[in-house]
Amino acid sequence: MIKFRFELPQLGYQLGDLAPMMSQETVSLHYDRHFRTYLDNLNRLLEGSIYEGLSLPDIVCKAPIGPLSNNAGQVYNHQLFFEQFVPTKHAKLPSGEFLFMVEQSFGSFDRLLQLLEKESMSFFGSGWTFLVVNADGEMKVMSLSNGDTPLRYGMTPLLAIDLWEHAYYLDYQNRKKDYIRNLFLIINWNVVSSRLP
Ligand SMILES: [Fe+2]
Repeated sequence: MIKFRFELPQLGYQLGDLAPMMSQETVSLHYDRHFRTYLDNLNRLLEGSIYEGLSLPDIVCKAPIGPLSNNAGQVYNHQLFFEQFVPTKHAKLPSGEFLFMVEQSFGSFDRLLQLLEKESMSFFGSGWTFLVVNADGEMKVMSLSNGDTPLRYGMTPLLAIDLWEHAYYLDYQNRKKDYIRNLFLIINWNVVSSRLP
């Protein structure tokens, strides 16, 4: 019997395409080492467990706090992270229903970016800042520690900003604000808006 194993997602860009916002060295290390380690841990921890065969969102929501939920959350968040980028020259501003919701929730798209930057900069330690939509259809900006994910709280993550130092230290060292601002230049808002439930 072939057991299901989670795998690295295919990327819509080459590892060097996001430079200079994210260097090839950073993307390669982050995607091919850190992300792969979380995947390998997840697959190993699932073997023979009652969660084997469940979808990733189900594992994320049902596994009790511990190594399995940590690694499942990190795999889920890193999927969001790596699938949401596009080379700067192809980046487009958001539009349509997504932009309308952003304007209703935050006043303007620029205000959303300001809130994401403020939230990311004020977060302490390793974790993630998210743009989410809650069960009432309201957009919010929030942060969670380590490998936690908004799915566990009934919210749908639309955008995920990795605040672990492995995401930016090679390129930006302690200049976290530059990392956040440059990350905004490579967001594929079509992908982000496609995550609306
Ligand atoms: Fe990461």
